[in-house]
Amino acid sequence: MASYDVIVIGSGPGGYVAAIRCAQLGLKTACVEGRDTLGGTCLNVGCIPSKAMLHATHQLHEAQHNFEKMGLKVGSPKVDWSQMLTYKQETIDTNTKGIEFLFKKNKIDWLKGWGSIPEAGKVKVGEEVYDAKNIIVASGSEPSSLPGVEIDEKVVVSSTGALELGKIPKKMVVIGAGVIGLELGSVYARLGTEVQVLEFLDTVTPTMDAEVQKTFQKILKKQGLNFTLGAAVQGVEAAKGKATVTYKLRKDDSEHSLDADVVLVSTGRKPFTDGLGLEALGVEMSDRGMIKTDDQWRTNVKGIYAIGDAVAGPMLAHKAEDEGMAAAEVIAGKHGHVNYGVIPSVIYTHPEVAAVGKTEEELKKEGRAYKAGKFSFMGNGRAKANFAADGFVKILADKETDRILGAHIIGPMAGDLIHEICVAMEFGAAAEDVALTCHAHPTYSEAVREAALACGDGAIHA
Ligand code: NAI
Repeated sequence: MASYDVIVIGSGPGGYVAAIRCAQLGLKTACVEGRDTLGGTCLNVGCIPSKAMLHATHQLHEAQHNFEKMGLKVGSPKVDWSQMLTYKQETIDTNTKGIEFLFKKNKIDWLKGWGSIPEAGKVKVGEEVYDAKNIIVASGSEPSSLPGVEIDEKVVVSSTGALELGKIPKKMVVIGAGVIGLELGSVYARLGTEVQVLEFLDTVTPTMDAEVQKTFQKILKKQGLNFTLGAAVQGVEAAKGKATVTYKLRKDDSEHSLDADVVLVSTGRKPFTDGLGLEALGVEMSDRGMIKTDDQWRTNVKGIYAIGDAVAGPMLAHKAEDEGMAAAEVIAGKHGHVNYGVIPSVIYTHPEVAAVGKTEEELKKEGRAYKAGKFSFMGNGRAKANFAADGFVKILADKETDRILGAHIIGPMAGDLIHEICVAMEFGAAAEDVALTCHAHPTYSEAVREAALACGDGAIHA
């Protein structure tokens, strides 16, 4: 029987990163994965394929709306759906094979199959049982549907089914104006689908800064997405390749229904821990089905750690990666740390939306004196040249000390720009530190500097 210092269960961004770091730290490591390819939800049916589809359909948008303005005559672009899906699959394949290569390079054994923990210190995969001094559960999450809504991944789909539809639907209803709903809703709106988004709350992307929410919804509306807010979905009936969604408007309890070729259920995800045997082991879980851990990612059972979507916190690949590295450090007897106050979140629509730290609403609630420096991409030369001047950068800083408390960006490459602020926050920087840093011209990043300047004596191009 093979024995390991660490067996990681799950090879998503949390699990594979944990495994690589364990191996780098000299621990004999294996990773259990039941899918045919490594990389988990993110690489196979989540982040990576959706970004491929967002990229392809954004190019379509550019060809349809901006090429002529730049003197590019290519006629009217046509969509070859099956080729687009092939491109998406090739993107997945190169990424999942990349992880396989990294496993070989780091001498990590891939134990193929679904793992369970028959007792502390042991992992069972198929008929084999392996000894493991330490186990890291990185089993991820799965879509959480609504009561009475059955996902068939053909007509009523989660993000997984939405990424491999047989054809481009004419009409799509998206339930939930969160990250998945708006990213995939954008993909199909760009492909010509009539997209209707139903959201229970009165705003899109409920956890985002309110000013960003409003601007974001306005921009998406211009792009053809339709929104019904305050709509509580009651049920979805699917028959003969079509579906009917019924919902109640919360303001007056009136009942409505909508027909669609495809219904995307994007109402959140829940931890995936089925079949691991955690209950029998006595691993403590929260009432929302998450594995409970301490601040060193240890469960209450000795030698069993848990990270990523299966534990508390935002369900984000990069949060899982950070926890994976930190848990590996802890197991190797080093210091593992994750700064949960500086975890960026990004929505990869066009424009992108990105945030880190506190929102204005949170700061108001805390009664913290703050100042907001804002700069519109309309004042950014590069953005104007690239037809990407919608949106703004907003930096929130402590009123007294000028220390950056949060940043909210809606605009071109927001998901990349946000990291300047992440680094600044990690160093405890003041807005003035960013404002005094020379930024190359012409770049989108100048808008970040201008927002920082706006926290002090004022932006130059506003
Ligand atoms: P989400 O939590 O982002 O949004 C779900 C939305 O559904 C919320 O706005 C909620 O109010 C709404 N909702 C819930 N019940 C409803 C009902 N009965 N009727 C109408 N609306 C209802 O969840 P989503 O978009 O499914 O994403 C799941 C997870 O995956 C999230 O944690 C997200 O962070 C992660 N993810 C992250 C991505 C990124 O970082 N770019 C991309 C895709 C997913």
